[in-house]
Amino acid sequence: MSIPTTRTREAASITILEEKCNACGKCVSVCSDFSLMLENGKVRVSELALYGCIGCGHCMAVCPEDAIEIQGREISPSDMYDLPPKEAAASYEQLLALYQRRRSIRKFRKKEIDNSLIEKILEAAKTAPMGIPPSDVHVMVLNGTDKCRAFAQDFCNYLKSLKWMVSGWFLAVMRPFWGKANDEMFRRFIKPLFRIYIENMEAGRNLVNYDVPLAMYFYGSPYTDPADPIVAATYAMHAGESLGLGTCMLGAVHPFIQNGGKARKLREKYKIKYASREGLFVIFGYSAFDYRKAIRRSFAEVSLI
Ligand SMILES: Cc1cc2nc3c(=O)[nH]c(=O)nc-3n(C[C@H](O)[C@H](O)[C@H](O)COP(=O)(O)O)c2cc1C
Ligand code: SF4
Ligand code: SF4
Repeated sequence: MSIPTTRTREAASITILEEKCNACGKCVSVCSDFSLMLENGKVRVSELALYGCIGCGHCMAVCPEDAIEIQGREISPSDMYDLPPKEAAASYEQLLALYQRRRSIRKFRKKEIDNSLIEKILEAAKTAPMGIPPSDVHVMVLNGTDKCRAFAQDFCNYLKSLKWMVSGWFLAVMRPFWGKANDEMFRRFIKPLFRIYIENMEAGRNLVNYDVPLAMYFYGSPYTDPADPIVAATYAMHAGESLGLGTCMLGAVHPFIQNGGKARKLREKYKIKYASREGLFVIFGYSAFDYRKAIRRSFAEVSLI
């Protein structure tokens, strides 16, 4: 048995290079699939594997002798590289400063973003953890202000065809099924949002993605852990911040482009391959403002048990 994704349906194959192996057992201990076992002083592929090698690469990453090779599920020994030195990693203070300096930016200078920065953002985002490797996160990149605006325009045109979704009769019918909180959110947030997006776009103001020079949409497939695109988007956002870009997450597009024929057409136009349980846009550009203060935030609740 193996865990399917859109990229692979097979378990990876495991090769132990016996002439190199010193039987330290590190690979056995680190394998969360229980794919490996020590028997008579030798590492063997175990019959007790949970799913079969998922290709996480942990065994290759800990082996002191380069004595184990995983092949398949989009991983091979050539994907392994030396860890950056510990001193090169951001300290807690540096990371916290990056987080504290971040604001959601919605006003941008008219300056396009160099392709090298886009590559850097994606390179960093690829390091994000995923439910099951290999990552089944897909990314649609709108590179350039014109493309971001065209998408926003198409989205607003599409929203017009969904106005029934925020009509009085539909909300009244749905309330018993989706409950008070959804009802309130639709009436007090989503319904006005439709109008705000559409009317402003008609007046030449793009409040969907703010005429930003770069937008990335992170989404999954029917196989993806729903959290994976959100985790990757968060990594991308912080990578953008570290490169001096202003960023903002946009949650309002994804839920509306999942269901129905018109949503499928919009997805096809933008090469979005799947409807996805969760997904998130992140926009990137050069902020029109310098902020002077950070804001102390709180969670709704932290329960220490
Ligand atoms: C999941 C998520 C979705 C968001 N969606 C939008 C959006 O559609 N449009 C927008 O202008 N801001 C959006 N934001 C930005 C929030 O409004 C912003 O984080 C909040 O106002 C707090 O401001 P700060 O990020 O500067 O601390 C989103 C943020 C998150 C985390
Ligand atoms: S790649 Fe992961 S699952 Fe496969 S043998 Fe190594 S540690 Fe186990
Ligand atoms: S970690 Fe490497 S050297 Fe140690 S038992 Fe596993 S394959 Fe052998």
